[in-house]
Amino acid sequence: MEIAQLIAERQGENYQLHRRYITPGFVRVLEIIGYDKVYTKGEGAYLYDGAGNRYLDFLGGYGVYHLGRGHPALKRALHELIELDRPNLVQMDCPLLAGLLAERLVERTKASFPGLEAVFFTNSGAEAVEGALKFARGATGRERFIYLDHAFHGLTLGALSVNGSEHFRSGFGRLLPATAIAMNDLGALERELAKGDVAAFIAEPIQGKGVYLPDERFLPEAQRLCRAHGALFILDEVQTGLGRTGRFFCGEHWGLEPDIVTVSKALSGGYVPVGTVLTRREIHKRVFSGLERSVVHSNTFGMNELAMGAGLVTLEVIEREGLVERAARLGERFLAGLMELKGKYELVRDVRGKGLMVGIEFGPPRSLALRAAWAGLEKVQEGLFAQMVVMGLMRDHRLLTQVSGHRVNIIKFLPPLVIGEEEVDYALRALDQVLAEAHRFPGGLWKMGAELVKGALAR
Ligand SMILES: Cc1ncc(COP(=O)(O)O)c(C=O)c1O
Repeated sequence: MEIAQLIAERQGENYQLHRRYITPGFVRVLEIIGYDKVYTKGEGAYLYDGAGNRYLDFLGGYGVYHLGRGHPALKRALHELIELDRPNLVQMDCPLLAGLLAERLVERTKASFPGLEAVFFTNSGAEAVEGALKFARGATGRERFIYLDHAFHGLTLGALSVNGSEHFRSGFGRLLPATAIAMNDLGALERELAKGDVAAFIAEPIQGKGVYLPDERFLPEAQRLCRAHGALFILDEVQTGLGRTGRFFCGEHWGLEPDIVTVSKALSGGYVPVGTVLTRREIHKRVFSGLERSVVHSNTFGMNELAMGAGLVTLEVIEREGLVERAARLGERFLAGLMELKGKYELVRDVRGKGLMVGIEFGPPRSLALRAAWAGLEKVQEGLFAQMVVMGLMRDHRLLTQVSGHRVNIIKFLPPLVIGEEEVDYALRALDQVLAEAHRFPGGLWKMGAELVKGALAR
């Protein structure tokens, strides 16, 4: 089969096939919000459709494209690896590239978090979280977890047990014993830890759903409390890691020293799924306690050559191209521009983030005409205003974004770290124009809002 020919022949059947065989509900959502595009090419921070239209991708494949799409160094390495006919997935051996990637990860992590010297490879972020939870149980002999409201750590059953949203949790029966606390509530954390049955407290340093940042004291204190009560501190850097927030690991912003760190997303280079659990040697030893238990936790594809190669090249490019510093610099420019918009538009309630993980939150307006328009949307479903802005950004500016969570008026931006000032300024101008339209009622954007309401009610 010629794959290029197959694509050429069937191009355009995308939504029809997904409606029939995959998730019809999601197809409908994409149609309603005007995201039912047929992209034919991706390059750097841009996507292209068949008509040659260019789209700026500030969604970044949910945060995997630190290097942008199709980075030449990655393409070259992956082609090379295939051509080399490497002995992939022998399983009863110790593959070199996995050893090299583990070495590189440990070396690089040392500068951020000391003491994390054992590596376990996974196929995804959720699987890394599953590993972290199991390691915490195995090492402490305790069962319960503590997690934060709004937390997102993946959607497999273990990860779901520490998910801070009822929307995702409900309908799937009993989950693992775990207790939610509010971000910044150190009292609640201490009370739960004092019960003595907590294996680990798990947190994202900046929450992906909603771009919520903790108070300065919260995570360092939480870490101290975990130590004091014999629980492990798991930092989920699946989304925030590898430079996204302007530091190699986001936890560096607070000088954290977690016991277990999960990494995934960007390590893949956007090509080959991969994840890792980084942990202390003594924790690892307690889980893999002896020869008989040396593969008590494992998987089939974790150390596959293409994933390992993608990981190695990704780390090298992040370093060589100074992408961590770039994220910090451009993030500052983006945030400063958003702050100006906040001053200009009453519907903008907050802008926040670090590096190139940035959120904008909307809230009810003061002026009478807008208040009625806002209420009309929001009474149908909370979060529809942000969705309307997402639609406007796509329709008028071909800018890809997303509402950051279920029924929230927050848009999140996760652009590739290879963007430049031009892309940041383009996104700011696009937002400025769409928000200007959203502050005019009745106006074009609100007409789109009416369409959205129709769609939402028809569901
Ligand atoms: C912080 C965090 N942890 C875990 C996951 C799950 O990763 P995956 O979707 O690869 O299973 C995500 C995904 O968005 C995430 O943001």
